[in-house]
Amino acid sequence: MELNIACIPGDGIGPEIVAEARKVLEKVAKVYGHRMNFTDILMGGASIDVHGVPLTDEAVAAAKAADAVLMGSIGGNTTTSPWYKLPPEKRPEAGLLGIRKALNLFANLRPAVLYDELATACPLKEEISRAGFDIMIMRELTGGLYFGERKTYEENGLRTAVDTLVYNENEIRRIAVKGFDIARKRRKKVTSVDKANVLDSSRLWRKVVEEVAADYPDVTLEHMLVDNCAMQLVRDPAQFDVILTENMFGDILSDEASMVTGSIGMLASASLNDTRFGLYEPSHGSAPDIAGMDVANPIATVLSASMMLRYSFDLDREADAVDAAVKQVLKDGYRTGDILSEGCTKVGCSRMGDLLAERIQ
Ligand code: IPM
Ligand code: MG
Repeated sequence: MELNIACIPGDGIGPEIVAEARKVLEKVAKVYGHRMNFTDILMGGASIDVHGVPLTDEAVAAAKAADAVLMGSIGGNTTTSPWYKLPPEKRPEAGLLGIRKALNLFANLRPAVLYDELATACPLKEEISRAGFDIMIMRELTGGLYFGERKTYEENGLRTAVDTLVYNENEIRRIAVKGFDIARKRRKKVTSVDKANVLDSSRLWRKVVEEVAADYPDVTLEHMLVDNCAMQLVRDPAQFDVILTENMFGDILSDEASMVTGSIGMLASASLNDTRFGLYEPSHGSAPDIAGMDVANPIATVLSASMMLRYSFDLDREADAVDAAVKQVLKDGYRTGDILSEGCTKVGCSRMGDLLAERIQ
């Protein structure tokens, strides 16, 4: 099969972790007989430095022309980087939001899995973590507070700012359908998370999710308020299968879920539209403080590449091989600094990539 993959290395540790994911993908291509064509796209700070803006029309066109996009991370140190002296719409993050919108990537899948090998890195009490967990957070990605009208103004000398949270039923329905479809392939439970005791947008969310649920009698639906969900994630994460939620709640809950897995350096993500196209990126940020030091953990990016093989190319066997390589490398005792524990061998980013590629069979 011929796979056209656009890479957005981005900023900070982005270029290093994408290079390792590419190494693993190239090994997959070799072992399974595929042809992979890679092109590079500038986005975020890297694009600001060259073009003065975080996302150009050409970059969007190049992403659209590919079958899938593999991204590292974007952004810099928000207090020291000159990028953050620019107006908000010209900062690195605006590039990411821009490409999500331009490619209509409304469904963001963020799996949070506790690996047996990393159980000691889990910050929860042993009696809680013992049960393990495997959660799929489905975050709506192109609506809500992130894309509603916003402004800052002065009224009678009082500085005032407003952000608007808007959802229409179509936006809710399409992410709910994806959530139920994915739950059907897993443990068949959807927890829809909202703030229906306060927000109108959440009350509509709940109604539409219930309408969608009617088409999935084999999937159990429960509703949970977002504050309770934040608490349940640390009290009993094993209760969750698919968490379905809006943009802002999903942003916050996915960071929390990643931390309970032991390291944010392990968490992959996929952002999908209603075709097979997707943008795949680690859930973590650009970690500018460790950029260029060859110490970053490339596993989240490698697992994102695995999601790409699975969701954009339907290559389940190849994706399974990548996931198995990650498990094996952990079993063999290799760790980057963020997940290091006693008795393990500490390796850098590039060596970790080599070890993973070696284990692709
Ligand atoms: C994420 C990030 C982004 C978001 C930022 C960088 C704009 O936190 O992907 O979770 O809030 O969506
Ligand atoms: Mg976030």
